[in-house]
Amino acid sequence: MRIMLAPMEGVVDHTMRDMLTRIGGIDRCVTEFVRVTNQLLPRRVFYRLCPELKQGGTTPSGVPVYVQLLGGQPDPMAANAHRAAELGAPGIDINFGCPAKTVNRNDGGSVLLREPQRLYNIVSAIRSAVPTATPVTAKIRLGFEDHSLLADITDAIFAAGANELTIHARTKVDGYKPPAYWQHIHAIQAKAKIPVIANGEIWTPQDYQRCLIESGCQDVMLGRGLLTRPDLARQIQTLNRGETVTSMCWSDIAQHLAQFSLVTEEMYEAKYVGSRVKQWLSYLRQAHPMGQQLFEQVKRMRCPQEIYQTIEQHREHYLLTKAV
Ligand SMILES: Cc1cc2nc3c(=O)[nH]c(=O)nc-3n(C[C@H](O)[C@H](O)[C@H](O)COP(=O)(O)O)c2cc1C
Repeated sequence: MRIMLAPMEGVVDHTMRDMLTRIGGIDRCVTEFVRVTNQLLPRRVFYRLCPELKQGGTTPSGVPVYVQLLGGQPDPMAANAHRAAELGAPGIDINFGCPAKTVNRNDGGSVLLREPQRLYNIVSAIRSAVPTATPVTAKIRLGFEDHSLLADITDAIFAAGANELTIHARTKVDGYKPPAYWQHIHAIQAKAKIPVIANGEIWTPQDYQRCLIESGCQDVMLGRGLLTRPDLARQIQTLNRGETVTSMCWSDIAQHLAQFSLVTEEMYEAKYVGSRVKQWLSYLRQAHPMGQQLFEQVKRMRCPQEIYQTIEQHREHYLLTKAV
């Protein structure tokens, strides 16, 4: 029963992967996407999106990070997969789910779900280009307009030799609108000879339980739920052990946020630090009322140090008022 951290462009970079895997319960991560057009990309592109390649392909807590490729041409995709594997990627993940118009217009992401044969060509080219020991995984949606091609899409990916398949249980047209249709995964995972990972709309341990029942899957991938409840994977593990689930207290979450602010300050230009912290906070506030309070305090701030100090003061104040 594994839990994967979902790839999220512009949100789950190596600093976020580090924060969330430190908190625990996550078995695997995926990078933001490497956009492949018609050429072999320089090594620095892979190191920028996956600095973990310099540390054995894992986060500092030892969780493997697969390199995500996005593109529609089998040969360049295969050449770049080969390069990623050569640089030490513990696995290659192929993005067949991205709904973005610019990506779809440029022959990548979910638009490829209309052409199962092309999915086959891409996956099999990548499978042949990397060592047998390097897993090749694909991530799809249920389809583009509807899920009528789902069986053809998944058969193509299985036949091409993918090692695992993640299904975000919505079509491209569904976008991110709830619900996720976990039940459509059931028939696919029942016939699959490789692990099928269910994804979409798992926000709580209770959602997780319903998702397992409806999809029939053992493994799940969590995206926004983990950003909103950073200990969600740990809560699920506790649940799976049959123990009582408790949530991480707000002061610990705020401490991680302060730490995230410091780490991003070292990594990014000052103008980006605040927006990354506010971005995470905008997820956190969905489950934590104190997050909303803190968001109101920092939302107009630009200076990274001011944001950091405000988070620390907020935390101290929270601890004091809690103790009274
Ligand atoms: C901001 C954002 C960026 C995303 N970027 C990617 C991506 O690069 N590759 C990908 O396969 N899916 C991407 N996704 C989709 C997620 O991996 C996941 O499938 C989706 O959010 C549903 O899972 P969730 O309900 O647990 O968040 C992205 C989603 C969001 C919200």
